[in-house]
Amino acid sequence: MRDVEHDEILGRAFDRRLVGRLARIARPHHRLIAAAGVLFPLIAAFELVQPFLVKIAIDDHILRADWAGLTGVAALFLAALAVLAILRAVESYLMNLTGQRVMHDLRAAIFRHLLRLDAAFYDRYAVGRLMTRVLNDVEAVNEAFTSGLFAVIGDIVTLVAVVGAMLWLDWRLALVTFSLVPVLAAVAAWFRVRARDAYREVRRRLARLNAFLQESIQGMTVIQLFAREAHEHRAFRRLNADYRRMLFRSTIWEASLYASVEALGSAALAVLLWYGARQIAAEALTFGTLVAFIQYTTRFFLPIRDLGAKYTVMQAAMASAERIFELLDVVPAVQAPPATSRPAPTNAAAVEFSSVWFAYEDERWVLRDCRFAVQRGEHVAIVGATGEGKTTCARLLNRFYDVARGRVLLEGMDVREWDLAALRRHVGVIFQDTVLFTGSVESNLQLGLDGRVTRPDLDRAIDAAHCRRLVETLPRGLGEELLERGANLSHGQRQLLAIARALVYNPAVLVLDEATSSVDPESEALIRRALARLVEGRTTITIAHRLSTVQSADRILVLHRGRVHEEGRHADLLRAGGLYARLWEISARTQQG
Ligand SMILES: Nc1ncnc2c1ncn2[C@@H]1O[C@H](COP(=O)(O)OP(=O)(O)O)[C@@H](O)[C@H]1O
Ligand SMILES: [Mg+2]
Repeated sequence: MRDVEHDEILGRAFDRRLVGRLARIARPHHRLIAAAGVLFPLIAAFELVQPFLVKIAIDDHILRADWAGLTGVAALFLAALAVLAILRAVESYLMNLTGQRVMHDLRAAIFRHLLRLDAAFYDRYAVGRLMTRVLNDVEAVNEAFTSGLFAVIGDIVTLVAVVGAMLWLDWRLALVTFSLVPVLAAVAAWFRVRARDAYREVRRRLARLNAFLQESIQGMTVIQLFAREAHEHRAFRRLNADYRRMLFRSTIWEASLYASVEALGSAALAVLLWYGARQIAAEALTFGTLVAFIQYTTRFFLPIRDLGAKYTVMQAAMASAERIFELLDVVPAVQAPPATSRPAPTNAAAVEFSSVWFAYEDERWVLRDCRFAVQRGEHVAIVGATGEGKTTCARLLNRFYDVARGRVLLEGMDVREWDLAALRRHVGVIFQDTVLFTGSVESNLQLGLDGRVTRPDLDRAIDAAHCRRLVETLPRGLGEELLERGANLSHGQRQLLAIARALVYNPAVLVLDEATSSVDPESEALIRRALARLVEGRTTITIAHRLSTVQSADRILVLHRGRVHEEGRHADLLRAGGLYARLWEISARTQQG
């Protein structure tokens, strides 16, 4: 929760460094930006032309009853209106086009970066926050392009032009109008600060509501299982009411701001009329000039009023840009070296853990001085109680994490020297929690090798994993469409498919991390028989806490307190009467019970 709120802190509205980086991202679209830039002064010019035409119409034509001339001016006025409308449309089109393209590029860049980040990063970062980075923050940066920075530049150009025109028409009248600017600025700033603070609270409440909603929806089955609906509903109602109250407060400030600026505008009008009328009576001012002035005044007040809103937009955009760049600057902890080599053919062990120390956090060691080797073609089992670090060993082997000390060697070469793709093709790991993706069963089995898998290879993998029966029971066979995360399959079925998927690679080293823990005993027996065939001639590491599944291994390693505590064959370990024998006794007893 605190993380979510941390995301709402706003700082400066303009940060040179951030704007510089954004400009670099927008550089491919510099032509569009330049075109929009050219339009600003043009639009300002056409805005100024209109009141001036009104002045000419009144002073030179209406007051002199020159109706023919008036038609000409009216036509000009219409033409100016039309051109302005077209220019505005083109400007808006260009700005939105630029914004959309920059957003598209930014989203692509963030996702490309996410693909390179390591498991430790994903341990730290919540999914919701990453979603916010890719979607909301990018949108906020887009706002900077479409209604922030560009609009401010456009406003300033218009404002300068209006001020120039007013001074040129009648400098005394201009000064009368300008005298209200300090009051306007003060009032607008006062309300703006309050509106901004309230808005920040709104965002904070919304973030809380979002986080709550996300967690509830993800855990809906558990909520219902524990009959917590009423409690969750109450919590939601509270957050929801909180949000509504804050939103309403922010609306009130916003409305007050607009109302007071309107009021000041009317006051300015009154002052102008009062002063102007006397000047007209004294023949120091024409009637047309006064009317034109009144029109300029509105064009003068509007941008000043909106400047504050744009300031807030820019602040939010800067904060979002900062967070996006912070994410983009995360250096992946696991990277292949610039020049990778293939392992030279040696007699080295297929897998070797050499004095490996590893901790997920600081110094809370999961592995401490863990050492073991697996020879080529050997079938080794790693057993141990839950939480001893068995899965961790698998993760270190295909470099989801890097060791803190020591080395993990594959074919005699440190995994940190391997090309990452080659490494992960060399070691096939089937994890406990399998992840399948939306798409057909076939596309899931071919993951990462799309189109390069031959039919016989696919069939071989399916048979080896004993998936044939499963595939045949699916209405559309291999073409069956899976739902998100494979939700339309049972856990056991997903695991069977995951085994087949790992076998499609035909990896040299196969790691099975509790791969059969949630299939039924019958399927498990089938898989085990199939695995027995797969294991032949293939380096295999079977991880299990159910000892019944590892008896056939060539060697069993018992992991305890971060290192290999015992090792040997099943019968030898039993005879030795150590930890393994104890674990065996417990598992035998629980199975009887
Ligand atoms: N991503 C993680 N972040 C922090 N700690 C973790 C993470 N994964 C596992 N651990 C911790 O590391 C220890 C070993 O976990 P693991 O290798 O999954 O055990 P096993 O597979 O033997 O049951 C456990 O104490 C667990 O709490
Ligand atoms: Mg595990």
